[in-house]
Amino acid sequence: MNRRLAILISGRGSNLQSILDATQSGSLDAKVAVVVSNRADAAGLARAREAGVEALHVSPRDFADRDGYDRELVKILRARDVGVVCLAGYMRLVGAPLLGAFERRILNIHPSLLPAFPGLDAQRQALEYGVRVSGATVHLVTSDLDAGPIVVQAPVAVLEDDTVDTLSARILVEEHRLYPEAIRLVLDAPWTIEGRRFRTPRAG
Ligand code: GRF
Repeated sequence: MNRRLAILISGRGSNLQSILDATQSGSLDAKVAVVVSNRADAAGLARAREAGVEALHVSPRDFADRDGYDRELVKILRARDVGVVCLAGYMRLVGAPLLGAFERRILNIHPSLLPAFPGLDAQRQALEYGVRVSGATVHLVTSDLDAGPIVVQAPVAVLEDDTVDTLSARILVEEHRLYPEAIRLVLDAPWTIEGRRFRTPRAG
């Protein structure tokens, strides 16, 4: 599979950083070809430039609708020969033009054990619900929000005195480990989708 990655962000970019670090250390055999943010003030843009990676701000205001915006993204990604798109704190829904152009090649990371707590503020949702275990999920992106086939998950215990901040911080540690691992799986293994299941053949 084409190992050139695009990372789409909207903010801090700590997951972007974990992917950049993994590609630089060689633990992930892939290249971040471009980083795109829908927000000009995303701190992740500076992280990308620091790593010598092209970083673009593409403003939704310059486009009439979401499809127009996503068509522009497709142009940008195709021009850079991108094989896999990673959403990393990208706070926009992905529309049909992008989904169609990169079918089964768009990943997202979410701070809960999906299908629990999709959408915004997953860590707050988990705390308020009272679950004892939450975690992080990397999944393939489909037209249903946070509901595509699951590639990898990691559990994180919810502690008695957790706040949204302390729980989020521990989930983030797992996210940073998990995202490079998921990208590696998607790039390396022959995998199939059976029903909802992301399946890799058993070793041996
Ligand atoms: C992460 O918690 C991710 O799971 C969620 O948004 C947050 C992004 O953080 N989708 P960062 O921008 O990667 O630091």
